[in-house]
Amino acid sequence: MSIELTPVLSRFWDVERSWTREVYERYDGYSALRTALRMDRDDVTQLVKDSELRGRGGAGFPTGNKWGFIPKGGDKPVYLVVNADESEPGTCKDVPLMMANPHELVEGVIIASYAIAATHAFIYVRGEVVHVIRRLHAAVAEAYAAGYLGKDILGSGYDLEVVVHAGAGAYICGEETALLDSLEGRRGQPRLRPPFPAIAGLYASPTVINNVESIASVPSILRNGAAWFTAMGTDNEDPRKRSKGMTLFSLSGHVTRPGQFEAPMGVTLRDLLDLAGGVREGHQLKFWTPGGSSTPLMTAEHLDVPLSYEGIAGAGSMLGTKALQIFDDTTCVVRAVLRWTEFYAHESCGKCTPCREGTYWLVQILRRLENGEGDEEDLEKLLDICDNILGRAFCALGDGATAPITSSLEFFRQEYIDHFEHGGCPFDPAASTLFADEGAGVKAR
Ligand SMILES: Cc1cc2nc3c(=O)[nH]c(=O)nc-3n(C[C@H](O)[C@H](O)[C@H](O)COP(=O)(O)O)c2cc1C
Ligand code: SF4
Repeated sequence: MSIELTPVLSRFWDVERSWTREVYERYDGYSALRTALRMDRDDVTQLVKDSELRGRGGAGFPTGNKWGFIPKGGDKPVYLVVNADESEPGTCKDVPLMMANPHELVEGVIIASYAIAATHAFIYVRGEVVHVIRRLHAAVAEAYAAGYLGKDILGSGYDLEVVVHAGAGAYICGEETALLDSLEGRRGQPRLRPPFPAIAGLYASPTVINNVESIASVPSILRNGAAWFTAMGTDNEDPRKRSKGMTLFSLSGHVTRPGQFEAPMGVTLRDLLDLAGGVREGHQLKFWTPGGSSTPLMTAEHLDVPLSYEGIAGAGSMLGTKALQIFDDTTCVVRAVLRWTEFYAHESCGKCTPCREGTYWLVQILRRLENGEGDEEDLEKLLDICDNILGRAFCALGDGATAPITSSLEFFRQEYIDHFEHGGCPFDPAASTLFADEGAGVKAR
């Protein structure tokens, strides 16, 4: 039986000019802000805690708890920073959300800033997505014009300024502390923690950093209540299963209808593939990522694993950003892993040795293997280098770089061996493209 979608963030994406304030207001836009401004700040934070919303940027940290860490009554300003850097391979939910419904994010920014008593908020967007930056600027200008931003918002006495900041385009600037350095005008590199941003973040002041989808989920919680949110998601009876609410699952790759599917936490890839028309015709699922390339690969064996933080962790991977990249039987896993590893080596910020040197050598070995020039020893070397990165790198970029390698060796070791036993890649790279000719497939061995 097919599951039902729960469109909340995406409830009017198909309406003409969905990104305008006028359309957003037709769909209850800015009503949650009015509710929030009548509430005590701490009650807003408590409501978000009660909803059990967890950060949608990858790590799944409880959003309300993060807001609660901001010290009260200090003499430093408090800041809200929205992480709109979205650069993880396969991750493609924040950009469509900001394009189709930027006001949901702006309203969430105002409510979150009010809850933590911030009078300045920043939206840090990756620089390459100029169309998104323009759209955000337009939405923020519309919000100012309507009195939702600026001085004395809706007569409440609360003031807030919002700045949309364009980054220069670096994956590492999505890491929250590197983002803060970049926002301050420095080269983006991760900071040593503690102190955590809640104590010393932007300009050494208390700062909350949240993902776009996390913040955009807040207005619906204010509109509908915490119980409405917790009613969606994994088993309410079991305290070990705490993945609540609806969320955006992004299906890409070898799937008939790729795109965003907003569904409750805990659905399965099988459910989502049903909605998306299945793996592309004539082919079988080979492997997939549950949450971008930094999460260990899964296979057809895992089609019924619940897409929840606990479900995916129980199966040995991570939910991450819920970026489900689908690869069918035409894909060479060695080539896919090489391509990802080239990305990590390119994006490594160079601050720590295990990642800077390790990712470089991983690429050299994977290239050799893909060209059929490797040997059994190379497979052990890959695992050894990964072992020296995982848990020893300064930030999670290094750890993430090891995920596709170790998981592909676990599930597809024979395919690596086939490369050097057959003196080259046994796959036709053209067959894995979406424009491949009918009948193209695995090369005769
Ligand atoms: C290399 C790297 C890149 C990241 N990129 C992003 C990103 O583009 N967007 C994002 O929200 N979080 C990203 N994160 C996670 C952030 O560090 C942080 O956990 C997140 O912004 C917190 O927001 P949340 O609690 O709402 O999920 C990245 C982490 C790492 C290590
Ligand atoms: S793990 Fe990589 S990206 Fe992170 S600090 Fe070290 S070199 Fe930089």
